[in-house]
Amino acid sequence: MSQADYIKDIARFGLENDQDQLLEVLSKLIEHSRQTKKVNLALQLQSILKEGLRAQQTKGLATVGSKKYYLKEDDRALNELIIEKLTSDYSFENLVCSAGIKEELTYFVQEHRDIELLNKFDLPVSNRILFHGPSGCGKTLASYVLAGELDMMMYVVNLGAIVSSKLGETSKNLSKLFRQATSENCIIFFDEFDSIGKVRDYSQDHGEMKRVVNTILQLFDYLPQNSIVIAATNQMQMIDDALLRRFDMTINLGLPSNSQIQELIEKTLTKSPFKFRTKKELAEIIKLSEGLSFYLIQRSIITAIKRTLFGLKDVEKPNLYLDSAILKELILKEKV
Ligand SMILES: Nc1ncnc2c1ncn2[C@@H]1O[C@H](COP(=O)(O)OP(=O)(O)OP(=O)(O)O)[C@@H](O)[C@H]1O
Ligand SMILES: [Mg+2]
Repeated sequence: MSQADYIKDIARFGLENDQDQLLEVLSKLIEHSRQTKKVNLALQLQSILKEGLRAQQTKGLATVGSKKYYLKEDDRALNELIIEKLTSDYSFENLVCSAGIKEELTYFVQEHRDIELLNKFDLPVSNRILFHGPSGCGKTLASYVLAGELDMMMYVVNLGAIVSSKLGETSKNLSKLFRQATSENCIIFFDEFDSIGKVRDYSQDHGEMKRVVNTILQLFDYLPQNSIVIAATNQMQMIDDALLRRFDMTINLGLPSNSQIQELIEKTLTKSPFKFRTKKELAEIIKLSEGLSFYLIQRSIITAIKRTLFGLKDVEKPNLYLDSAILKELILKEKV
């Protein structure tokens, strides 16, 4: 059967309210998507299926203390913790970084692809990775790249929200989150991981803060080998030393070197019809961009592309050149 056939069946059984047939054909479509290498679709359908089944279990009113009641409470607590659940199409191609970092990340991915080999020789698997470095240099992007390369779903966790509100509940909720992510084979991604350190500022209650850190330490220590935690921060100094030590890999994504600026410019331009008029112009732009983050450089190029386009009389011409005066001005503005 083709994907279109499955979709037609799903529409029919859905409209006929035939749950059993609907579930069966959905499972078949998930398998079909896996076999035809549409991994992200398979992951998303799987997740929709699980959530749907769970929603059925918790539908309607629940008696306090009943199983349904606790399931509902769990869902509510988890929804507060998770910003989003996503799949990723990013790959190493999208990330500009040094050869050394690329190699480290490739090994990290390989450990999970070849996990059975490591298990066979009783070797520990690296599954906790921390990205740090200045804003706009690819920490969040690198995390998405890992999710894409590993073909795994990712829970993005909202630490800021949990630590600022009900501190007392945080430890319990974190444990729930880890349990659920592990059972669903999802990556747990703590973006802005430094919020955990900020608890100290929010609350006078250092005892509570210690409890949260201790919970995370334990969850990290007992993380199953096939689970993965990724954390990202631009304020390493906010994070407890004991927590920092738990990461198997710590990767510093810093400001781009000149060759990385060039790679970023080339990657950004290949998606547009524009190029630089001369090599000298490109060299000048690279020099001028020194000290800016990947994000700011990319944003300047995209803005310059748009503004060049607006100024053109004939957009169908075969050779379109980027107006480097506009780009220079934008870069200079970013530097002040
Ligand atoms: N190393 C990089 N290679 C390619 N593109 C990059 C890189 N770093 C940043 N970018 C571009 O900038 C955007 C923003 O980067 P990202 O969100 O990963 O930054 P960040 O390090 O997480 O910053 P923050 O600390 O502010 O969260 C990316 O989506 C991408 O378009
Ligand atoms: Mg980020």
